[in-house]
Amino acid sequence: MQFDFRRAAMLSISHAKENKDTMIGEKEIADFWETHPCGESASGSNLQDDYETFFRTYDAWRYQKEAHIPACLDQIDFRGKKVLEIGLGLGADSEQIIRRGASWCGLDLTKGSVDRVLARFEVRNLPYDTIKVGSALDIPFTDNSFDIVFSHGVLHHIPEACPAGNPSCTQA
Ligand SMILES: C[S@@+](CC[C@H](N)C(=O)[O-])C[C@H]1O[C@@H](n2cnc3c(N)ncnc32)[C@H](O)[C@@H]1O
Repeated sequence: MQFDFRRAAMLSISHAKENKDTMIGEKEIADFWETHPCGESASGSNLQDDYETFFRTYDAWRYQKEAHIPACLDQIDFRGKKVLEIGLGLGADSEQIIRRGASWCGLDLTKGSVDRVLARFEVRNLPYDTIKVGSALDIPFTDNSFDIVFSHGVLHHIPEACPAGNPSCTQA
């Protein structure tokens, strides 16, 4: 991925300073995602009932709708690479990246997402390095410690990173 996330975040923070009074706060955003888990309603299945069915149904729906994602992932050599994924949702892409041989770390703003991804890893016996609750705006990992940073469908949900008029947002 050619996108320079850190530069976009820095650019956006300067926009954010200008728009501070009108911008929705990170706590409200986290509350939204905690109460509306990404993609969950699309699955048509209930996480409480049967994890395996839940993730299978969700992934089939997701990759039928967004078949370009696995196709794009296939173009990246993840084998042996240290990968940080930001904004995990239900962890469908996390699983794809791990199955392609990455040494995977994940970060999401919500505990709900992290718990769901951990449930996926457990039921499917997937290996991973670290998973944390935290923000893309204050990444709790050491600088320059990853070969690849992957984030899909996240940046445009972060007001600091994507205020109206920031051209970086169309490239995410
Ligand atoms: C639209 S979902 C996308 C999830 C997944 N990447 C996908 O494509 O299905 C957005 C995810 O990003 C997370 N998120 C939102 N703001 C974030 C932030 N500032 N830092 C890290 N994660 C964030 C949300 O909790 C949610 O899990």
